Amino acid sequence: MIVAVVGTGYVGLITGLCLADAGFRVHGIDRNEVLCSRLNSGIATIHEAGLEPLLKRVLRREFASFTSDLSVISEADMVFVAVGTPTDERTGEADLSALRGVVVEMAPFLKSGVTVVVKSTVPVGTNRAVAGILREARPDLDFSVASNPEFLREGSAIQDFNHADRIVCGVSDEAARRKFTALYAHWVARGTTLAFTSPENAELSKYAANAFLAMKVTFINEMADLCEAAGGDVEHVAALMGMDARIGRSFLQAGPGYGGSCFPKDTNALVSSAAKLGVDASLVRATVAANESRKRRMAERVIAALGGVADKRIAVLGIAFKAGTDDVRDSVSLELLPRLQEAGASIRAHDPKAMSAAAKLLPDVSWHESALEAAVGCDAVLLLTDWPDYALIPPVALAKTMRGKHLFDFRNLFSAAEVSAAGLLHVSIGRGADVGGGPLEIESAPQQQEGAAIHLLGRPVREFAPQALEAAPSVVG
Ligand code: UGA
Repeated sequence: MIVAVVGTGYVGLITGLCLADAGFRVHGIDRNEVLCSRLNSGIATIHEAGLEPLLKRVLRREFASFTSDLSVISEADMVFVAVGTPTDERTGEADLSALRGVVVEMAPFLKSGVTVVVKSTVPVGTNRAVAGILREARPDLDFSVASNPEFLREGSAIQDFNHADRIVCGVSDEAARRKFTALYAHWVARGTTLAFTSPENAELSKYAANAFLAMKVTFINEMADLCEAAGGDVEHVAALMGMDARIGRSFLQAGPGYGGSCFPKDTNALVSSAAKLGVDASLVRATVAANESRKRRMAERVIAALGGVADKRIAVLGIAFKAGTDDVRDSVSLELLPRLQEAGASIRAHDPKAMSAAAKLLPDVSWHESALEAAVGCDAVLLLTDWPDYALIPPVALAKTMRGKHLFDFRNLFSAAEVSAAGLLHVSIGRGADVGGGPLEIESAPQQQEGAAIHLLGRPVREFAPQALEAAPSVVG
């Protein structure tokens, strides 16, 4: 089977390369010729774990190549469309103009019997609309349109592709179903679930999954606020909630608010497409509003704790919307830094991967090669992205280089005890003033661990969860 993937952004690229790695011949198509020639030379165009070796491997085996020439589509049995569906700023809806444009442009090249697969995240009804466009452009053509939403997280996209919880295929005919069965046989043989449904259910399930996860993050952020007010510790609360198998431990890490190219866009699009259908998606609407107000409050929190930031120097560690990526789209940093600058702060920043992308969007920031260099002479350090390497910085080293004492740890990466031992003021998320971030202690059942108690001493419980909690889920002491 020959596969074409239109759009070599992070979804199209990862999808194409993973399919090629399983032995399918893949044509990657992108109108950006520079991007195609870099990919053909084995140069990764985005930062993604494992991407460059994967790219080099499939190029070497000649299973994938990249071109701007849409005519290669005429060879393809399946054409995946993975172009962007950004938020239309006027309406909040997903902007489908790129998708529609590509469908019109590729129509003349499609071969009989082809399945066009919508990989982009789209509102319900889009697959049917795509089929309508194709029918109009090619009344002669025998084709099917199918939905195959992606659930890849940036930073672990290759891993997510190869070890998916499920592969969702929204099909409306047997031919498309048979092709998906053949395409994904490699992964099904390794235990992945292949789920067939209607295109509408597939489209809805993608929005529903992202909105639910965004809501889960927003929920724990709200619990963090409650913990701060009530004298609790959100790390413990999240761990204890996560022990309930119905809730699960993932996506309960409190932080400065969610960002990225998916949650903000998809929650807004869900609200808008629901409204169009006469449905008030009030929970998702509240999630969007709570996340927006959280980002604003994070800036206010820094300003208030420092007694104003006029002429203050702040080192910001982490600009990417999360660890493992160079993506800064809708990152909290893009909202927070300008607010601090408006209030008079000067910003020195570091990010392991995202500095060149961020420099174009964040003017008047000085960029530094290391976190410690950024912290030199600063009144405060503000940690925004959960890069694991930041957790390895000894707080005492920060204290030596700073002129002030505040460490705003908005990802709860540092140990509260180590930060205060270094003489710094630890402003973390979801820890009430009188709690101090002590350890969560878990006692296992005698039959499982012979009565041994696991004392998670001196380190934040998130370093151990969920593995430690799964290992000893029975009694909480
Ligand atoms: C998300 C989904 O997780 C993927 O399944 C989906 O395929 C993808 O969107 C997409 O639609 O393309 P991604 O945007 O890469 O993936 O990032 P996530 O790992 O989901 O994180 C989103 C945001 O939530 C980040 O800002 C992250 O820092 C934040 N987050 C996540 C938390 O604050 N706490 C958590 O516990 C988890």
